[in-house]
Amino acid sequence: MKSNGSKPRRSRKASPAVAVRDRAQVTRRKIIAESRRWLAIINAHKLNEYKRRKIVADTVDNFRLYYNKGYLEYRKSVTEGGEFAAIEWSGKGTYFEDITGRRFIDCLGGYGIYSAGINHPKIVRAVKSQLDRMPLSSQELLDPLRGALAELLGELAPGDLQDCFFISNGTDAIEGAMKLARLYTGKPGFISCVRGFHGKSYGSLSLMGKGEYRLPFEPLLQDVYFVPFGDADAVEAELEKAEAVGMSIAGVVAEPVQGEAGAIVPPDDFWPRLRKVCTRHGVLLIADEVQTGMGRTGKMFGVEHWDVVPDIMCLGKALGGGVMPLSAFMSTPEIWKVLEPNPFIHSSTFGATPWPARRGSRPSTSPSRRTCPARPPPPASTSSPSCAGSSGASPTTWSR
Ligand SMILES: Cc1ncc(COP(=O)(O)O)c(C=O)c1O
Repeated sequence: MKSNGSKPRRSRKASPAVAVRDRAQVTRRKIIAESRRWLAIINAHKLNEYKRRKIVADTVDNFRLYYNKGYLEYRKSVTEGGEFAAIEWSGKGTYFEDITGRRFIDCLGGYGIYSAGINHPKIVRAVKSQLDRMPLSSQELLDPLRGALAELLGELAPGDLQDCFFISNGTDAIEGAMKLARLYTGKPGFISCVRGFHGKSYGSLSLMGKGEYRLPFEPLLQDVYFVPFGDADAVEAELEKAEAVGMSIAGVVAEPVQGEAGAIVPPDDFWPRLRKVCTRHGVLLIADEVQTGMGRTGKMFGVEHWDVVPDIMCLGKALGGGVMPLSAFMSTPEIWKVLEPNPFIHSSTFGATPWPARRGSRPSTSPSRRTCPARPPPPASTSSPSCAGSSGASPTTWSR
């Protein structure tokens, strides 16, 4: 909207109060018109050449003025293209197209979100159906799909990893895993790997094995120690040192295969030895499967290459099927117990409480063994809505 980055000038004749009011009205009118224009663009089946060119110019301007100017310098597709910058518009499978119809082979996979390909028809159909029915949670009633997904993941995950919590980004999953590890062990420290990448919020950033991302935000969490990736002896040495000087470690965090560091596969004995070392020293083994999970390495989870069962596992990226931001951290019923006294001790608007996902012990929850309810629930009354907040879980009350 703004052509030169400055706010619209105030009229000289008007009193300051009137001018401010007028400016607010003009701006609001412009904002509404602009929103309508973009809604029409989103809903349009076809765009003519003029409209497409305008979207290219507007997008570059909008990034320059309102989003994150640095992107324009950084993204080659923008700097090389000038006014014909590549503006992504559609995609299918392994290809995406810019708004002018140029086709690209997707070699980046959206940083690992498109394991099922772009716009997978079955996933998109399911999401559209659910969007029509109920887009997000009411936060009061139990969401059946959240429970169903938790069950599927619980059945799919290795060993006794069964309980989970959903959030949106990989970094959120790592934050949850760190909190769970601290809560369960009562210890503060973590061991992470040089060049490891676990996200960029403060907790996960503290595990970051790359100085360039950490340094500008120091001090981060203090109790984090780094070892070379793939070196189980170094992990053990670090744990022995910590024990000797009375520093306590909650968990060892590693990616099964380091992603951002350049697809670094560890020696074959690394993960099995990590498992043994962690068990021996009573610390939790946390597998960051945000990038390697959901089939990315040829097995459903990276740790399955070595038949290792971690104590906590983090998922993200491809978990959302390439259509939504979704992540999770999972653990065993034994570890998860520490979240049970107060299921809201870790929660998020776009996440779940752990409860809907919890289904008791694994054997009795297996889909094949589940028994049907004896009676269907009573029909919902339309005349006197029940107060969903009356259970005491939340103070909310509502009426129609
Ligand atoms: C292994 C790993 N963990 C965590 C993250 C953070 O995920 P997000 O960017 O969704 O927060 C990433 C992101 O690339 C990752 O590769």
